[in-house]
Amino acid sequence: MKIVCVTSSPRVNGNSAALAGMLLEGLPDAELRRYHLWDLQFKGCRGCMACRKTSEICVARDDASPVLEDIARADVTILASPIYLHAVNGEMKSLVDRFFSFMAKDHFRRLAAGEMYFPTRLATGKTIVLALAHGRPADFYHFLDAALRDIMLDKGFSAVEILRGGLLNSARDIHSREDLREKARELAATLRARYGATA
Ligand SMILES: Cc1cc2nc3c(=O)[nH]c(=O)nc-3n(C[C@H](O)[C@H](O)[C@H](O)COP(=O)(O)O)c2cc1C
Repeated sequence: MKIVCVTSSPRVNGNSAALAGMLLEGLPDAELRRYHLWDLQFKGCRGCMACRKTSEICVARDDASPVLEDIARADVTILASPIYLHAVNGEMKSLVDRFFSFMAKDHFRRLAAGEMYFPTRLATGKTIVLALAHGRPADFYHFLDAALRDIMLDKGFSAVEILRGGLLNSARDIHSREDLREKARELAATLRARYGATA
């Protein structure tokens, strides 16, 4: 199983990174690439539409380029982000905007023609995991899930898993959260069943 784990919080050992870590503990045999967006130099989508017209990949070349290439090769992508102002934080949003380039060139035309599945450049069968940490209670953010699922399916991921930890404020809060460790364990078992225990 090939995994790319992308963290985005300025708190490098904060709750969202720890949530991703709990999941990775259950996937010890995976071939793993990690990126910490806070350390990278990149911008979000520039809206040039080259990926709709002339290019099969995002033409912007910066530190997000290898992240996008690895995501396109991985079975599982983990995006671990804190919730800032009811959304993933800015660095994560800028990366996700670049997922625009995963859509097939004729995505919009084919959808308008009634195609049922989202036309994508990604190979089928990929899972994206959103590991989200926030201060408000877990129930509060159910409204985010539908939007995030829709965005990720639209870009070509076959499955979207949301691992969300509420009532997490100080960076140490997560360490006493057996409930989240259990959820991460269950999700790891699902991924092992989906892709096999080894690469
Ligand atoms: C700028 C900023 C905005 C935040 N906005 C929200 C918010 O809208 N909703 C929420 O529940 N928590 C919010 N929080 C709290 C963080 O989501 C929470 O502390 C989270 O556990 C941080 O994860 P991290 O340790 O991975 O950075 C905010 C924190 C900061 C610093």
